[in-house]
Amino acid sequence: METVVSGIRSTGNLHLGNYFGALSNFLKMQKENRCFFFIADYHALTTHPKPDDLHGNIKQVLAEYLACGIDPEIATVFIQSDVPEVIELYLLLNMNAYVGELQRTTSFKEKIRRHPDNINAGLLTYPVLMAADIIIHKASKVPVGKDQEQHLEMTRRFARRFNTMYGVDYFPEPDAYNFGKKLVKVPGLDGTGKMGKSEGNGIYLFDSPEEIRKKVMRAVTDSGPKTPGEKPSEPVKNLFTLMKIVSDPSTVKYFTEKYASCEIRYGDLKKQLAEDIIKVTSPIRERILEILSDNQYLSKVVARGAEKARESASKTIREVREIIGYRSF
Ligand code: ADP
Ligand code: TRP
Repeated sequence: METVVSGIRSTGNLHLGNYFGALSNFLKMQKENRCFFFIADYHALTTHPKPDDLHGNIKQVLAEYLACGIDPEIATVFIQSDVPEVIELYLLLNMNAYVGELQRTTSFKEKIRRHPDNINAGLLTYPVLMAADIIIHKASKVPVGKDQEQHLEMTRRFARRFNTMYGVDYFPEPDAYNFGKKLVKVPGLDGTGKMGKSEGNGIYLFDSPEEIRKKVMRAVTDSGPKTPGEKPSEPVKNLFTLMKIVSDPSTVKYFTEKYASCEIRYGDLKKQLAEDIIKVTSPIRERILEILSDNQYLSKVVARGAEKARESASKTIREVREIIGYRSF
């Protein structure tokens, strides 16, 4: 049995990248392992949300987790800010995290490039808080998408550094995890890189079928293959990548062959892709609506989750304090 931890920031509704990169893998692990799944609402503060938006997003993401099938009876589902122990570990780890290595993190450099007006210290130490989230439960597996690979590498480094510094074998070194072995990057349909909330190109679990059809039909393509064997352009490759994730292998085969023989009609491919996405999202959307209307259930879930997560986290904090040298007289 492994200990599994993963989280998603509460900065907006969940999209297909969150689902296929992180959630779907977590779902497969929850029965056989000791699982923690949380809403990273401290991490969400780096973008300075308004109080009502922060609260609304947390509630929405919680309902979405549950609607996807995370079972609070077997997994621990909680809100990061309900477990203040993580802040203590974050502070302790910060003492051994070097400014240089944090500045070199790809995600930090990307944030500086995109938002030069808001380079706050929380962004710089984002990977330290993430490491604390993971190692506070002594996790060994972390189901996340490809974009989180470097953060996991840093988590291992911080865990190792702590162990070496105090001459202990206390924190395990966790791995980023995907059932298909390779970490997934779900592409956006705007011809750019990954699908993301901040990229503004998300197809959301909560989108209505009409919205999904509209978004997919608008996807960027090209003028089509002219000679057999021609390599697809980036935007068309992205459509196929998404199709491989949501559609039946026979559907992928059909369109791959149509492409190869230059007979492909992108309109047909998009129509099929939209319907296959809707097949995944529409039962989830219905459950989200049901769960959102049951406040009592939601508050019971988070209270129980916080209790279980704090039990695990406070044990670690007690032991870490002892290792560091905070002892009672
Ligand atoms: P976003 O990137 O939309 O802001 P987060 O950064 O909160 O979302 O990501 C939460 C989880 O979803 C992480 O495990 C991340 O790797 C995964 N994820 C986000 N976008 C994608 C994507 N396009 N492909 C694969 N996984 C993704
Ligand atoms: N950093 C992750 C992201 O942006 C979210 C996150 C925070 C996380 N803490 C975590 C993911 C711990 C896995 C484990 O996607």
